[in-house]
Amino acid sequence: MQLMATKTQLATLFLLLLISATVHGRKPRSRSPCQQYVFYFHDVLFKGYNYKNATSAIVGSPQWGNKTAMAVPYNFGDVVVFDDPITLDNNFHSPPVGRAQGIYLYDQKSTYSAWLGFSFLFNSSDYVGTLNFAGADPLLNKTRDISVIGGTGDFFMARGIATLLTDAFEGDVYFRLRVDIKLYECW
Ligand SMILES: *[C@@H]1O[C@H](CO)[C@@H](O)[C@H](O)[C@H]1NC(C)=O
Ligand SMILES: *[C@@H]1O[C@H](CO)[C@@H](O)[C@H](O)[C@H]1NC(C)=O
Ligand SMILES: *[C@@H]1O[C@H](CO)[C@@H](O)[C@H](O)[C@H]1NC(C)=O
Ligand SMILES: *[C@@H]1O[C@H](CO)[C@@H](O)[C@H](O)[C@H]1NC(C)=O
Repeated sequence: MQLMATKTQLATLFLLLLISATVHGRKPRSRSPCQQYVFYFHDVLFKGYNYKNATSAIVGSPQWGNKTAMAVPYNFGDVVVFDDPITLDNNFHSPPVGRAQGIYLYDQKSTYSAWLGFSFLFNSSDYVGTLNFAGADPLLNKTRDISVIGGTGDFFMARGIATLLTDAFEGDVYFRLRVDIKLYECW
């Protein structure tokens, strides 16, 4: 009995020491962004008839699906590769300032949810360089936060958070994402 209590006390003490070491060891960091951008990108999915206009294609589907229609239920198992124009406003026909290139894959069988891994490629008078993104995209949430995991060129070593908002969609053929980028590490 006595021994048990001592063990518990020791464990508690150790935990407290650990917590205080962690708290004091961490440098306080600013939560305000050092750089902010807003972009839009436009995705037109290939549906079997719109090859000319399509900017994305289903490249993998589950056994029960196919590559011209999203799988049922909830697109689960579909892997889509995209090469989408990036614009500064929400107009599909505005001159693109770059390309959003990468993949999204649907990874939940019980609701709409995707995982994103892509880059923004800029090579214009506005920006030259890349920004790289990764993260979970629970589509039914009005906004979704993903990570900005790095950058090159004008975005050298950038890190931060990108907040995604589905700005418009037409069935599963077209969607437009508003991307609010806040960088917390800038060089
Ligand atoms: C291509 O898709 C966009 C977005 O849905 C639409 O505005 C445009 O009219 C389409 N163009 C053609 C030729 O289908
Ligand atoms: C693909 O699947 C959709 C929906 O299940 C179906 O309507 C369509 O006919 C299929 N297309 C092909 C080419 O098998
Ligand atoms: C960027 O644009 C410049 C000038 O148009 C061109 O020389 C260069 O090859 C482009 N770079 C990439 C990676 O597309
Ligand atoms: C869901 O949306 C809310 C507000 O719109 C936001 O605070 C929250 O971080 C979002 N969740 C995820 C997982 O992105």
